[in-house]
Amino acid sequence: MARHLITSAIPYINGIKHLGNLIGSQLPADLYARYQRQRGHEVMFLCATDEHGTPAELAAAKAGKPVADYCAEMHAVQAEIARGFRLSFDHFGRSSSPQNHALTQHFAGKLAENGLIAEVSEKQVYSNTDGRFLPDRYIEGTCPNCGYDKARGDQCENCTKQLDPTDLIEPRSAISGSTDLEVRETKHLYLKQSGMRGQLNDWIDSKSDWPILTTSIARKWLNDGEGLRDRGITRDLDWGIPVRKGTEDWPGMEGKVFYVWFDAPIEYIACAGEWAQAHGLTDADWQRWWRTDMGADDVRYTQFMGKDNVPFHTLSFPATILGSGEPWKLVDYIKSFNYLNYDGGQFSTSQGRGVFMDQALEILPADYWRWWLLSHAPESSDSEFTWENFQTSANKDLADVLGNFVSRVTKFCRAKFGESVPENGTPGPDEAALIETLTTRIRAYEAHMEAMEVRKSAAELRAIWVAGNEYLQTVAPWTTFKTDPDRAAAQIRLALNLIRVYAVLSAPFIPDAAAAMLAGMQTDDDSWPDDVPAALQALPPGHAFTVPEVLFAKITDEQREDWQTRFSGTRD
Ligand code: 2FM
Ligand code: ZN
Repeated sequence: MARHLITSAIPYINGIKHLGNLIGSQLPADLYARYQRQRGHEVMFLCATDEHGTPAELAAAKAGKPVADYCAEMHAVQAEIARGFRLSFDHFGRSSSPQNHALTQHFAGKLAENGLIAEVSEKQVYSNTDGRFLPDRYIEGTCPNCGYDKARGDQCENCTKQLDPTDLIEPRSAISGSTDLEVRETKHLYLKQSGMRGQLNDWIDSKSDWPILTTSIARKWLNDGEGLRDRGITRDLDWGIPVRKGTEDWPGMEGKVFYVWFDAPIEYIACAGEWAQAHGLTDADWQRWWRTDMGADDVRYTQFMGKDNVPFHTLSFPATILGSGEPWKLVDYIKSFNYLNYDGGQFSTSQGRGVFMDQALEILPADYWRWWLLSHAPESSDSEFTWENFQTSANKDLADVLGNFVSRVTKFCRAKFGESVPENGTPGPDEAALIETLTTRIRAYEAHMEAMEVRKSAAELRAIWVAGNEYLQTVAPWTTFKTDPDRAAAQIRLALNLIRVYAVLSAPFIPDAAAAMLAGMQTDDDSWPDDVPAALQALPPGHAFTVPEVLFAKITDEQREDWQTRFSGTRD
């Protein structure tokens, strides 16, 4: 039995995520976690909400709520939607947790002790009316380039020009509208990661098995000089983790918080502490996942994320961990994803373009989305969601192939032999051929799942479903029955057993349908088909079953057109 630590990139708290976010990290991570559990391994699957930073503050202000309340509410909303999609986190934590406060401050203290923190004086805009420093995007004014009067201090939304706050004509505070602004000196902490280039380079060099998407991004940032610049890890915001050196005050840093990208990945670790607390466990219980001096050296740690997150996970977070000089677990494998596009454009949270997770669940059960998204995962390139493709895939793969197999076999058996596995007949060459095909394909499926080749896994699973249908088509028990009912009984006995095997194999992709199939077969034997011939006899003659409800209703043209129209604009 191996031990798998699995994390998904933690989604920002500001709003409900779209399907592109889902397939970029949480869903493939869930697929892998479910698979490893099914194979008998010990799994710790963690995710959380990423709650700090300007976007969280702005979203709370827009909602007219104190930011802490806003985050608590949105965390509950995201957790509920995650349950709806059957994301099987062992814990869904919060980067604002006390555990993450303590651990982030601890890391900063260790980095300082090891000479890896610089205190740097900078000039920054201060608002006298608001009594605070303003981050660039909290300053508004007229764009010097196009004259747009709501340009932000970091960029003009109208002409896209990158700006400095001092470029703005008549700058004002985005919080109060006040023009009583001045430039003041302020001190910030920088993580001196530039000195760690060699160490990080060697580490990435040692990861020859990583996906090219991951290593190519890591190397680009490592080599072009930009990526390993020393980075500011503090901000002048109210909301966030107060800057402290471990448990001590940090002179000159009063009123400042850590930068969201400093504390977010540390939440991967803190989340395990939250998990332990939620289950009444001890520090040793979570540290055995995270500290190599506490037993984590035999843990395999896999991270899932979209490509935009790769630099933070291959450079800054490892720099934090290595720089601490403490025995924390480093990631073993980073599975990264390209983008999913929506109907000829991009999914966009800020513009409300595309299908959002809550909306998806309102129109169809999770399994439809899980299947389509995973079988079209943007692995080797960006991929695109279109309603036509969604309808075709769901109808073909789920309804015509898998659903139809289950329904035909169970209904035919009920009509001819009753609702139990038929007794008579012996298997022949057709059955042997099917078992051989299935064995080859199941072994290939396992290899793809192990390698986190998501699309290839889906294709193999589909082929396994198709093999059953083709077998049924070839042996045609409804015809055989007329002349040789015993032979038909043997065929149906195999087919009923195959439904159980399908449930087991399909569970990582479509857990609800898999559960319905097992329930229909009236078994809780969800053992993996290591030995395929034996697995196809798990339900013995005489074992009772029931015909499951329709597993997957077809998506009609009318529904598709409806949804196409409903989701063509932008969300309010
Ligand atoms: O891109 C994002 O959605 C970030 N919130 C991901 C953070 S992942 C990690 F570092 F915690
Ligand atoms: Zn402009």
